[in-house]
Amino acid sequence: MIKVITYGTFDLFHEGHYRLLQRAKQLGDYLIVGVTTEEYDQTRGKLNVVDSLITRIENIKKTGLADEIIVEESQGQKFRDIKKYDIDIFTVGSDWTGTFDYLKDYCKVVYLERTKNISSTMLRAKEAPIQRIGVIGTGRIANRFIPEAALVSGVNARCVYNPNLNSAKKFAEKWGIDAYEDIEEFYYASDIVYIASPHETHYSYIKQALEHGKHVLCEKPLCLNRAQAVELFAYAKEKNRILFEGIKTAFCPGFAKLLGIACSGAIGSIRGVDACFTKLEEDNKRERKDKVYGGSFTELGSYCLLPILKLFGQNYEEIRFETIKDQNGIDLYTKAHMRYSNGLATAVCGLGVKSEGKLLISGTTGYIVVEPPWWKTSYFEVHHENPNDIERFSERFLGDGLRYEICDMLSMINGDTRKDFKLTRGDSETMAGIMEQFLNERKA
Ligand code: CTP
Repeated sequence: MIKVITYGTFDLFHEGHYRLLQRAKQLGDYLIVGVTTEEYDQTRGKLNVVDSLITRIENIKKTGLADEIIVEESQGQKFRDIKKYDIDIFTVGSDWTGTFDYLKDYCKVVYLERTKNISSTMLRAKEAPIQRIGVIGTGRIANRFIPEAALVSGVNARCVYNPNLNSAKKFAEKWGIDAYEDIEEFYYASDIVYIASPHETHYSYIKQALEHGKHVLCEKPLCLNRAQAVELFAYAKEKNRILFEGIKTAFCPGFAKLLGIACSGAIGSIRGVDACFTKLEEDNKRERKDKVYGGSFTELGSYCLLPILKLFGQNYEEIRFETIKDQNGIDLYTKAHMRYSNGLATAVCGLGVKSEGKLLISGTTGYIVVEPPWWKTSYFEVHHENPNDIERFSERFLGDGLRYEICDMLSMINGDTRKDFKLTRGDSETMAGIMEQFLNERKA
């Protein structure tokens, strides 16, 4: 019996998929089809898959062409499957020509002619029109955002606005997009507005963008005041638009894996969360100069609060800040201590003090340590009382990681609102409240 294997995502099952399976089946007597998981697709940079794994498997089943369907969940699995299932022929479409030649040492490799003029990417674009992104702000993060957005199918960065037209023009030239002086024209040319301007301008830009009927992706901290955050989310709901806070860690696959393992009993009940993020910044940078809104906590606190809120929830009993300020009254180093009914947490941020960027989760039977930089979660260990008893986990974190939040926001715009559990409206409102309390106390 000749055994054939093929792999794919098979999203929005189409004629090209059917024709490929038909010909794959004809190559032998028994056809195995490997279908990728959403997580595996994410780690290999394929974002925005619409159909669930179950739906994609069901669609293949319906063709009646597959004798067996398996799930592909990691790199290196193809080789293992070839051995495990005693495969004679590996086949995929001609878009992959050459990529799998390394398997020729283990079985025959056949590239089948790809069906022209059809792909899942095309269908996704047809189902959901391209969302044009307009960027407000031209700083470091905005410069990182544009190349990341280019990797997400379904969105297209089109234009930029900055009250300083020269900055906007320079940015626009660099990225091949349009610069607008008139904000009305800018809104007209955008479907999603990405806000990467100084913190204190977020509120009014978000409000204005929502007024213009735009979806909003706003850099953290979304707001520095709880009432404003509550108002904005209510307004977004009223306008039927998505308002999304861009804390990239919340959307990356490694952080999702970490939360899953931390909450699965691997370390018993969680009793401590300690997160630290420090970044030495020069004196002439906005974060070090802005006496009202600058400083380490407004800059980095959102990251450190994220694992605390995700693991302990929004209902803390007490929060207390300890801060070292510079001569301008800006905090260079801040520790926020939080007390919950069943645990303690600290968020440590530094702009003028350097420490290890570690996340430590302590439980009743062990602890998890996430290696620096934990906010780009890619490696963590689970430890127990016996120092030799260590479990190790890793996950890929691609590029600057902004692609993950863009991708989740796009799914939400396209109707998959279940994605918002990763960073809820309540999480963002709670963080805004903590920022507010911190700034009030720093001022006092
Ligand atoms: N395929 C094909 N002809 C097409 C599209 C896909 O023969 N027009 C083949 C691919 O070469 C692969 C299999 O179908 O062997 C599954 O491909 P998949 O990547 O799931 O489909 P695409 O439509 O290429 O998806 P995307 O646009 O997301 O890359």
